[in-house]
Amino acid sequence: MRILVTGGVGYIGLHTCIELLNSGHSVIVIDNLSNSKLESLQHVADITSLNLNIDNSIIGTEENLVFIKADIRDYEKLKRVFDIYPIDFVFHFAGKKSPKESIVQPLDYYHNNVFGSLVLLQVMRSAEVKNIIFSSSATIYGDTDILPIKESSQPKPTNPYGKSKAHIEQMLHDIYLSDDEWSIAILRYFNPIGAHKCGKIGDQPIGDSNNLLPVINKVVSGEINELLVYGGNYNTHDGTGIRDYIHVVDIANGHLAALKYLLSDDNSSIITLNLGTGAGYSVLEVILAYEKVSGRKIPYKITEPREGDVAQSFADPSYAQELLSWECQFNLEKMCEDSWNFQKNQKP
Ligand code: UD1
Repeated sequence: MRILVTGGVGYIGLHTCIELLNSGHSVIVIDNLSNSKLESLQHVADITSLNLNIDNSIIGTEENLVFIKADIRDYEKLKRVFDIYPIDFVFHFAGKKSPKESIVQPLDYYHNNVFGSLVLLQVMRSAEVKNIIFSSSATIYGDTDILPIKESSQPKPTNPYGKSKAHIEQMLHDIYLSDDEWSIAILRYFNPIGAHKCGKIGDQPIGDSNNLLPVINKVVSGEINELLVYGGNYNTHDGTGIRDYIHVVDIANGHLAALKYLLSDDNSSIITLNLGTGAGYSVLEVILAYEKVSGRKIPYKITEPREGDVAQSFADPSYAQELLSWECQFNLEKMCEDSWNFQKNQKP
């Protein structure tokens, strides 16, 4: 298969490219590099022993790993990519991903995520490429009391980022209703952490990130003095928030399993699946696991809950497990070990 990976230089996109290439697929990455660095894709090429073909001019090529700098909102450029390359399938990761930022800049989120996806889907329709796996998020569930979270749980996103994902999901359902030749998988990720075992690619946001593991990495590298634990009085076993952390390589493999399912299914279809482990861990448990594997102390202070946070979120992943024959391989310690391994490899 020749797979177009939008946002393929981002955290999850990179890890998915590795698994695709290792499985013998060809990959064309498009990315606007707004929150990523091209050198990360060079690491993917090194890991998979392939050449990275940087195709600025968009000239056809037989290479297995091609990068084209493009924004998914650029209809003409996307059209040229589809005109030149015989694309079989699209993995759509491109988009902005900070709930906090989305509250301040909602239009950026609707423009990048919703309009960008609309343009991509228009180009796909005109090129008659009707196969897509879409990167959605557990964020769309918002605050829910019913745990573990099933796919049937009514989406109640609480910020423009989550709402943009819900809008895109809706667009995909409407496309499928209008034309059932489409094959669509919507994958709702819980909390991806960890990194590829080589230690060269990982979660490396440009600018501020409020996600737990990047912050822990900043503490161990001495960039910040202590971790602020947001909330110590939640109704959980130790009072801190509980999340379903999942290794990014397990997320990547979930995409490959979804691809296999859609290809093997004679009937085209639309499926929506949770990608999580089904296990919830508290912030303090993550700190402990990280300290154990790294041998470093993580100083922390319990402070007020962060606005918009929920006490607990974890998946019921049974539908994805059954339908895709997919299961997570990595436990919390391994996730922390790989995050730490990635952190150790960063230049000071
Ligand atoms: C966040 C996003 C979610 C996104 C996900 C990607 C919000 C409200 N949600 O989820 O939309 O899909 O990241 O991974 O931002 N924590 C601390 N101190 C910190 C950072 C985090 O205590 O410095 C705690 C949080 O309160 C939470 C847990 O760690 O209990 C995980 O936080 P985080 O990694 O930001 O993920 P989510 O908030 O679950």
